[in-house]
Amino acid sequence: MSREIKRIAVFTSGGDAPGMNAAIRAVVRTAAYNDLHVYGISRGYEGMIDGELARLDVRDVGNIIHRGGTMLKTARSQRFITAEGRKMAYESLLAYDIDACIAIGGNGTFTGADIFSKEYDIPMIGVPGTIDNDLYGTDFTVGFDTAVNTAIEAVDKIRDTADSHNRLFFVEVMGRNSGFIALSTAICTGAGSVLIPEIHTSIEELIDLLKKGVKRKKLFSVVIVAEGHPQGGAAQIAQKVKEAFDYYDTKVAIIGHLQRGGSPTGFDRLLASRLGFSAVEALLQGKSNVMVGLVHDSISYTPFAEAIKQDKPLNNDLVRMAEVLAI
Ligand code: F6P
Repeated sequence: MSREIKRIAVFTSGGDAPGMNAAIRAVVRTAAYNDLHVYGISRGYEGMIDGELARLDVRDVGNIIHRGGTMLKTARSQRFITAEGRKMAYESLLAYDIDACIAIGGNGTFTGADIFSKEYDIPMIGVPGTIDNDLYGTDFTVGFDTAVNTAIEAVDKIRDTADSHNRLFFVEVMGRNSGFIALSTAICTGAGSVLIPEIHTSIEELIDLLKKGVKRKKLFSVVIVAEGHPQGGAAQIAQKVKEAFDYYDTKVAIIGHLQRGGSPTGFDRLLASRLGFSAVEALLQGKSNVMVGLVHDSISYTPFAEAIKQDKPLNNDLVRMAEVLAI
């Protein structure tokens, strides 16, 4: 029989992602609607270990739906990796009579949640919040759409200068070890090529493609590089290409943390609201140790162990289309 849930805690952990605030708001308001008390934990697992919990009321989450970052702050906790850190975290939750937690974050967050909820009797529900979109069990993660739109805006500007000078630009986007941001950005900006960790394009293949572009009278080109590419980052790849093919004046741009900030798009606000709302409902239904996600526009639940271990496949139709449209 599942335990009665009266007090829950919510926290954000790992890299911040636009839309996390909208998810916190949805959790707090859905919980209040169901007569649950909610506590916010500051700085993710770090704050859990240090007992940084504070009551969150419906009005405390007003005027945040449109804000990037996370009002609860976030951290990548090394202490939570240790059994001693997790014991301290459990004691903090006991001190506040917390019955269950909602964790908003990515791979690292759910790895911690999975271990913790197996060690201690605290049900955990995850809300996927990461710009990388690399979690199995959801078509989209909160923050991905905003990050892609930010990258698109940046690449559109770079295209203007690339075009004016007949240059070859290598633009590096985030995504840790996955190419979701890179692939979407490449398609939406009409990039000449995209290099992603999932597909092993060699430097020779890239040069071949660029040469074909020159034959087709391409006067400039933009290559989107995912940061986790096995051949290196944009700077290293640009250097290798330049050594073998110096037709273009070559430049490098790294978008970096610009992609993590900013006001969430409508898509991310809606997704975050749906997932935050569903996370509380999942707890009330007695669910535990699962990540809520959106699959084919319906709410789904994936055990943490699967969400973090299974590789989320790229859409191969998109990969093929990106190649065709870049001709
Ligand atoms: O996981 C989100 C992310 O932005 C990745 O795309 C990137 O590799 C990483 O975080 C950067 O982490 P940090 O901000 O800690 O340097």
